[in-house]
Formats: sequence, structure tokens, C-alpha cells
Amino acid sequence: DWNMPDYIEEAVKRIREQVGDEEVILGLSGGVDSSVAAALIHRAIGDQLTCVFVDHGLLRLNEGKLVMEMFAGRLHARVVHVDAVDQFMGHLKGVTDPEQKRKIIGREFVEVFQTEARKLRVGGTEAKWLAQGTIYPDVIESGGAKNKKAHTIKSHHNVGGLPETLGLKLLEPLRDLFKDEVRELGVALGLPHDMVYRHPFPGPGLGVRILGEVRQDFADLLRRADAIFIDELRAADWYDKTSQAFAVFLPVKSVGVMGDGRTYEYVVALRAVQTQDFMTAHWAELPHSLLGKVSNRIINEVRGINRVVYDISGKPPATIEWE
Ligand code: XMP
Repeated sequence: DWNMPDYIEEAVKRIREQVGDEEVILGLSGGVDSSVAAALIHRAIGDQLTCVFVDHGLLRLNEGKLVMEMFAGRLHARVVHVDAVDQFMGHLKGVTDPEQKRKIIGREFVEVFQTEARKLRVGGTEAKWLAQGTIYPDVIESGGAKNKKAHTIKSHHNVGGLPETLGLKLLEPLRDLFKDEVRELGVALGLPHDMVYRHPFPGPGLGVRILGEVRQDFADLLRRADAIFIDELRAADWYDKTSQAFAVFLPVKSVGVMGDGRTYEYVVALRAVQTQDFMTAHWAELPHSLLGKVSNRIINEVRGINRVVYDISGKPPATIEWE
């Protein structure tokens, strides 16, 4: 059992001692870990921290806006917002293989981050430290045998892999914490409950939820469908009862009717799972009335989608993501 205010005070002191008067950069993704790390480090060293938020065009609806409002707006942290949508889309054009897509997104992320770090240097801010939201399970995972197998099934791209290429010292203030402790810390630092208790979101984002070739128009449709699903889950009090829930874009057209007309549009699949460790998972038995409402809303509000299906596959043999 630990006392949060004492813990924060202790952590702040440690960060100040470690960093001294040097500058720190951090890749802010909107996820729980990088958000809590940013809030804690900002508490410790204020403007010596620069956060870099990369919009690769594969984020959830309003993600960039929410992150900027929270960190630049409310916490008054220094945040650089990078619009890299065209760059990412350009490199992803014509690429359909899931692992290839992951590699490209990971590689471009490092590239964009490096460019921003260089710009800060020219601007007089030479970062000596790279901060990351690494948590205790990540530390174990990188040495664990159990996860090696999972990694060969899907190469997980996170904000990792940056230090060698940047030549920076690593600052990882959450290294000793479990996920629930990170969440408690986030709340104590003033981050909103909804941000801190969010479902996990993969590094490649919607890139692995748009099957096959990633296109910006597909991403726009998917973002809107996904936001409706998540809104309705929250409204029905089901969000916290699922471990992960999202929409998937299927680049398949099917026929529908709307008014007097015939439609020929795309399909969205809904995925919601319950799991302890994400290694195995059950599909969530969401109420039919909730599924019906989500389906109606998506088809009525998102022009371009005329059919919604629910994924009832467990892991194994399916995976949680579709790619
Ligand atoms: P799967 O689909 O392998 O997903 O059952 C298990 C968990 O891992 C997440 N996931 C990823 N996270 N980069 C990430 O950062 C990835 O490439 C990636 N692929 C899957 C997935 O969202 C789920 O929580």
C-alpha cells in the first residue's frame, strides 16, 4: 500500500535530480502511459519538457484536439503538434500487408520524431533526454519468453526503439509501476478519469483496423463509426465492462436500400472483448439493443457505411485486432 502524494513528491524529486537543468523530449500518443509520464515529468520540470504529438492520420476522432486541450491548454505544457498525415499516407499507399504496414508506420514515426528533435535543437532546445512511458510489465515483457511468441505473430510497434537512433539518455519514471498504479497516479496528477481509464490503442492505430490498403477516406469513415460505438458503450455503462472495443473497416461493398434508392457501400465490423491479459480473450456479450442502436446510428450518420456486423470470435483462434 502506498501513499500517492508522498509517491508524487518522491518521484518529482528523483526526476529533478536525474535531469538537472537539461531538456527532455517525450512522444505523446494520447495513450495512458505516455500521458501519465508527461504529466508527472511536467510536474517535476515544467518547460524543460517538450512533448511531441505526431498525428499520422490514423488516430481516433478528435484525438489531437483532446491531447492539445489537455496538455497545452490545461497543464500549460510545451507540446509540438506535428501534422504528418500526408507523409504517412504517402508511404502507405498501395501497401496491403499487415506487417509491412506496421513496419512503415513504426519507421515513419521514428523519422518524424527525429526531425522534430532536430528542429528543437536548431531552435535552441537541445534535448539530452528521451522520456518514455515504459511501465513495469513492459520491462518484464522485453525479457519474457512467453511474449516472444506473441511478438512473432504481430510485431508490436510502440514509441520504443528511439534512443539508439537519437543518442539520448532514457527517462522512464513509470518503470516500477503496474498499470493500475499508473492510472491512480494519473488521476492524482489531475488527468481526467476517461483519459486514464481508456482501453489500449495500438501504436499503428487505425492502420491495422483498415484492412488492406490504408486510405484517408477510409480512416475518416472508420473514425466516425468508432466514435459512435464508443459513445454508446459509455452511455450504456458497458465501456468499463469491456477490455477493448473498437470498429474495423472492411473494404468490401454490399448492397443496401435507403429511402427509394439502392446503396452500394462499405461494411464496418464491431469488436468488443473481455480479457485479463490480452493473450486470450472472449467476445463481449453486448446487449442486442445496444448493438442495434450502434448499428442504426452508424448507418444513418456515416454516409458510406450501409452495413454493420458484430465479431463473435474468441482469441484464440482469432486475434483481438483484425490485422
Ligand atoms: P492481438 O490482435 O494480437 O492484440 O490479439 C493484443 C493486444 O495488442 C494490441 N496490439 C498492438 N499494440 N502495436 C501495439 O502497440 C501493435 O502493432 C499491436 N497489435 C496489436 C491490441 O490492440 C491488443 O490490445
